[in-house]
Amino acid sequence: MTIERIVDTSVHDKDADEQVIEVTLRPQNFDDYIGQERLKKNLRLAIDAAKKRGEPMDHVLLYGPPGLGKTTMANVIANEMGAGFRVTSGPAIERAGDLASILTNLQDGDILFIDEIHRLSRAVEEVLYSAMEDFKLDIVIGKGPAARSIRLDLPKFTIIGATTRTGSLAAPLRDRFGHIHRLEFYTPGEIASIITRAAGILEAPIKPESADLLSTRARLTPRIANRLLKRVRDYADVNGDGIIDTVMTTRALELMEVDELGLDPADRQLLSTLLENYGDRPVGLTTIAALTGDEVTTIEDFYEPYLMQIGFIERTPRGRIVTHKAKKHLDKQ
Ligand code: ADE
Repeated sequence: MTIERIVDTSVHDKDADEQVIEVTLRPQNFDDYIGQERLKKNLRLAIDAAKKRGEPMDHVLLYGPPGLGKTTMANVIANEMGAGFRVTSGPAIERAGDLASILTNLQDGDILFIDEIHRLSRAVEEVLYSAMEDFKLDIVIGKGPAARSIRLDLPKFTIIGATTRTGSLAAPLRDRFGHIHRLEFYTPGEIASIITRAAGILEAPIKPESADLLSTRARLTPRIANRLLKRVRDYADVNGDGIIDTVMTTRALELMEVDELGLDPADRQLLSTLLENYGDRPVGLTTIAALTGDEVTTIEDFYEPYLMQIGFIERTPRGRIVTHKAKKHLDKQ
């Protein structure tokens, strides 16, 4: 599907300007971080305990759909711990040697954030096990009969891993995390607060009713909320006096073809393709991917979580089913 997605939650297509804005919009501590109350409560306790003992905290695994703030939360943890923060990702660590060089360059207490940790190779994972458990690095020097293995001491660090899917994480790796938490979708009220906060930072005047309206279109996801806000701000700057009110917001949303539930043309096309071809019969993921021209992981990570959250798609043992509720919504459009 080649339609540009306004509600895309991937970060890979962001331009530099957008990256900078998003970084400054990110809350830096728990007090500024809106939502995820249960997670914050658990993490606050873990951080207080670790600080009291003067030790780094146990490794943390954060999982959940993209755009809900896993990276932001990792950064907040580092700030709250007063720890150094290093960032890498599963696909970036190609060999065991890459991981060895990252780990040996850490300082005591540092937090190493590994995004998309489910994409680490087996060989890299194996090295990570003893590093996480004993803060030791086993490396082999030389080849053939002369090869010998040495153990290096590593600084005491904390890994924060992030993944959209715990299911594809190898059990021995998952077991080495002391804290495993799922990030939940936000409530519309929380999203409205996030929008109001971001508008304040961007110095974009927004009426409370517009923040409320936008909050119902953002798929309960902060990354999308902030993106919609920036597009509506553009619209109000060009077509009005910069004030984001109901008229500006409604028109901008119409222009972006984002409907009352936050679905964009790509979502609606996915649902109607499935309905036309399969009606209310179950469809396998690979078939869905073939129909839309997307990767299976794109369907699973980007389309499905919200469509399931609002009850438009159900997961059954025989495949995905588009619900009657989804059909009613599409008929209305
Ligand atoms: N910006 C993005 N996510 C946020 C959150 N959870 N709280 C405050 N601002 C945010």
